[in-house]
Amino acid sequence: TVFANEKEACKKVAKRIATLILEKNDKMEKTILGLATGASPIGVYAELIRLHKEEGLSFKNVVTFNLDEYYPMNPLAEQSYVNFMKDHLFDHIDINFDNVHIPDGTLSKEEVQQFCVNYEKKITAYGGLDLQILGIGRTGHIGFNEPGSAPNSGTRLVTLDDLTKKDAAKDFGGKANVPLKAITMGVGTIFKAKEIILMAWGSKKAAIIKKAVEGEISGEVPATYLQLSENVEFVLDEDAASLL
Ligand code: GLP
Repeated sequence: TVFANEKEACKKVAKRIATLILEKNDKMEKTILGLATGASPIGVYAELIRLHKEEGLSFKNVVTFNLDEYYPMNPLAEQSYVNFMKDHLFDHIDINFDNVHIPDGTLSKEEVQQFCVNYEKKITAYGGLDLQILGIGRTGHIGFNEPGSAPNSGTRLVTLDDLTKKDAAKDFGGKANVPLKAITMGVGTIFKAKEIILMAWGSKKAAIIKKAVEGEISGEVPATYLQLSENVEFVLDEDAASLL
């Protein structure tokens, strides 16, 4: 779906999330959301905050699982995805923090593997993700599933691609300070979501969007795996869609 601009697109995605929460509330069920970081979803979160403050949308029955976190990462650090999510969403809504899950960047290497297994188990125990929102990196990554990721991959520790570190450099005061690794949900984890919405804005995403939507399905561009899913929608602005 192509929108005239990012703002309109973000409103539509936020509305979809709000509708899902209300439908689930009616059925006395929790809503299990997969959330993303990066600039792309910020407008969606801003609209969700507005819906909470002005229209009484409640997140009391919402459970969230974030896609990824840098590794190693102190949750209190400015660049942590924990900090990002608090700043852009959680501190402004009525979510119960016990219902918030974000990969833990403080674990030892020995602990990470078990953590990843448990992360998958927790998602499954809630009945799976109702909706996963995604951005896309210029390498074609979704979450931090970099080129070379397998379609059935699960939550795991990965090494960041050079281009990803370059794109993150501004947040860390230089590429050399960007963590070398990250914990990310896998492509397989994302695929199990009942609904997936990938968002991209601006001309700098146009080339990777063309590859993701029209390119050959390949682990070299993990977002191309989404072509295999029946439940995915790409929500784009005109600039991101300009090469399609
Ligand atoms: C990071 C995140 C991804 C995100 C990507 C694009 O690498 N781990 O989940 O999709 O950035 O970010 P942006 O939305 O800022 O372009």
